[in-house]
Amino acid sequence: MLETPPLSLYVHIPWCVRKCPYCDFNSHQLRDNMPEADYVAALCGDLAYEVERLETKAPLTSIFIGGGTPSLFKGKSYGKLFYAVDQLLGINADCEITLEANPGTVDAENFRAFRDAGINRLSLGIQSFDDDKLKSLGRIHGGDEAKRAIDIARGAGFENFNLDLMFGLPEQKVSQAIRDLQTAIGFEPTHISWYQLTIEANTEFHSRPPKLPPEPAIVELQDEGIALLADLGFDRYEVSAFAQQGKRAAHNMNYWEFGDYIGIGAGAHGKVSHVAANRIVRTRKKKQPDHYLAATLNRDAERVEVTMPERPFEFLLNALRLRHGFEVSLFEKRTGVTFSEIEKKVDLMVSQGLLVLESGRLSTTERGYRVLNSILEEFLD
Ligand SMILES: C[S@@+](CC[C@H](N)C(=O)[O-])C[C@H]1O[C@@H](n2cnc3c(N)ncnc32)[C@H](O)[C@@H]1O
Ligand code: SF4
Repeated sequence: MLETPPLSLYVHIPWCVRKCPYCDFNSHQLRDNMPEADYVAALCGDLAYEVERLETKAPLTSIFIGGGTPSLFKGKSYGKLFYAVDQLLGINADCEITLEANPGTVDAENFRAFRDAGINRLSLGIQSFDDDKLKSLGRIHGGDEAKRAIDIARGAGFENFNLDLMFGLPEQKVSQAIRDLQTAIGFEPTHISWYQLTIEANTEFHSRPPKLPPEPAIVELQDEGIALLADLGFDRYEVSAFAQQGKRAAHNMNYWEFGDYIGIGAGAHGKVSHVAANRIVRTRKKKQPDHYLAATLNRDAERVEVTMPERPFEFLLNALRLRHGFEVSLFEKRTGVTFSEIEKKVDLMVSQGLLVLESGRLSTTERGYRVLNSILEEFLD
């Protein structure tokens, strides 16, 4: 039986100082003035519209402000937004409120204003500390600026922060990737997201591919990096996410456990359950900031049902990314589908040494985790 999941909020800020050549996120290079006040007003209207459509209005368990570059906005703007959020839904006392910041847009005073507004976690887009690599990635900051940004974040009172790093950068050696990780760990972040650089369609790197390290080097550096992080107390709880004890990203955990989230802002995605009607609805907002802003009543681009046959795959696509798996009962609560519907396939993969079903929890084996995509394909139909 479908049960009401925790509810979180994703807020998208679609502007950046410059578009990075590898980035396929909904981010647009700032050409003239940013319509910050209008955009915050649009976000508040968008939220009111979404809240009206909820079956159950519950206080939020997490908020994530992502981008784009949310650190381009003023702390005061987020204060206004949170006021509206509080009026419309309420914010749990222990709500994790994260903001993504680019080290090239860091200002000590504004970081303090972020804290004053209620933001209690930062995610800094470091990518690398190596000036040459940062240049090849088209970043607007160098290594020293990245370090300074972390110091400023801590000085502003952010003890709980994530560092985003990428590996497999153009012509990167194993030792260089490991040095980046060591430098990051030296700053004692509570969380590290360590992503392999991927070449996405519709990016500059796709039309002009850089020279990436060979596959054996990627495998070697990944094994070495994961071992280093484990030795220093970072639990790999998801494919690319590593946390100190008790510091998993609550917002991302809610995605991976197929929880509900309202998505507001240009191009934002949402997923909301309507338990009484046994419906799960995915929402997507208009992608172009101008189009999003121009629509005063309805900012939707799309509202689609996740049908019963689609739900097992959608759930597993998220939950099997979790290294420690999930409770079978969670599968039933979040999808409204009984576990027996997928049991045959699960049993087969258990016998093949790809999955483990133990004490009511399903997870991948070490080998299964490495071939996650082929496991998921089996659940596609
Ligand atoms: C939504 S992005 C935005 C973060 C922020 N705007 C920044 O870059 O400073 C979040 C993270 O995804 C990762 N990322 C973005 N594009 C990627 C790609 N093509 N391959 C791997 N990781 C990527 C980067 O680590 C980035 O910090
Ligand atoms: S700063 Fe972040 S969101 Fe903006 S273009 Fe670069 S990677 Fe994309």
